[in-house]
Amino acid sequence: MKVAVSILSADFANAWEELKVIDSDVDYYHMDVMDGEFVPNISFGAHVIKCFRDKTTKKFDTHLMIRNPKKYIKDFVNAGSDMISFHLECDDDALEVIDEIHFYNKLAGIAIKPNTKVEELIPYLKKADYFLVMSVEPGFGGQKFMESSLDKIEKLAKWRQAEKLNYLISVDGGINDKTSKLVVDKGIDFAVVGSYLLDKKDPHKKMEILKNI
Ligand code: DX5
Ligand code: ZN
Repeated sequence: MKVAVSILSADFANAWEELKVIDSDVDYYHMDVMDGEFVPNISFGAHVIKCFRDKTTKKFDTHLMIRNPKKYIKDFVNAGSDMISFHLECDDDALEVIDEIHFYNKLAGIAIKPNTKVEELIPYLKKADYFLVMSVEPGFGGQKFMESSLDKIEKLAKWRQAEKLNYLISVDGGINDKTSKLVVDKGIDFAVVGSYLLDKKDPHKKMEILKNI
C-alpha cells in the first residue's frame, strides 16, 4: 500500500524534525487545507506548504477542504502541490475546478464526505485523476474510521476495471495497522495516514507495517 502522510497532526514548530525520520518511506505528503467554512476548523494555507517544499523531493497531495477551491488552485500549485483534491460538496463547479488544476498540469482529485453517495462521482470518472473517499467527517485528525467507506472504495475499483480506466483510489481518515488491511482488500491505491504515524511512538516501525500491507 502506498502511504500519504498527513502533516495535520504534526507539531508545527518542529514538524520537519518529526517527518524527516520517515521521509525515505513516504510516497506522498498529504496537506490538509481547511477554511473554517467548509469544515469547522482552520488549518493552514499555501505558505505552510511552500515551507515544506524545499525539505523533500516527495510529491505533495493537497486536500482542499474549502468552499471555493477554484480561485486558490494557482496559489497551491505555486506552493509546490503535485496533485490537488477538492470536495464534490464545495460551492464551485467540479468540472471547472478539474480544468483549472489540469491547466497547471497537476493531477486533479475529487474528495467525498461520508454522507455523499459514491454514485455522485460517476460523471467524473473519466475526468479526474484520483478520488479521495473520506472515512471520517472532514475537519480533524484522530477520528475513528467509518466502515461505510469500504463499499465506496469497492465500487470505484469495480467501475475502474469495468470501464478500463486508470484513476487512483485513496482513502482518508482513521487509517492504522488494522483499518489499512480493510481498505487494501477493497482495492485502494494509497491511504492517507496522520495521527497513527505522528504520535511520536516508533514511526519507522509503523511505516514498515503500513507499506507491507
Ligand atoms: C481530516 C483530514 C485527514 C486526517 C487524517 O479532515 O482530511 O487527512 O487529518 O488524519 P488521521 O489519520 O488522524 O485520521
Ligand atoms: Zn485529508
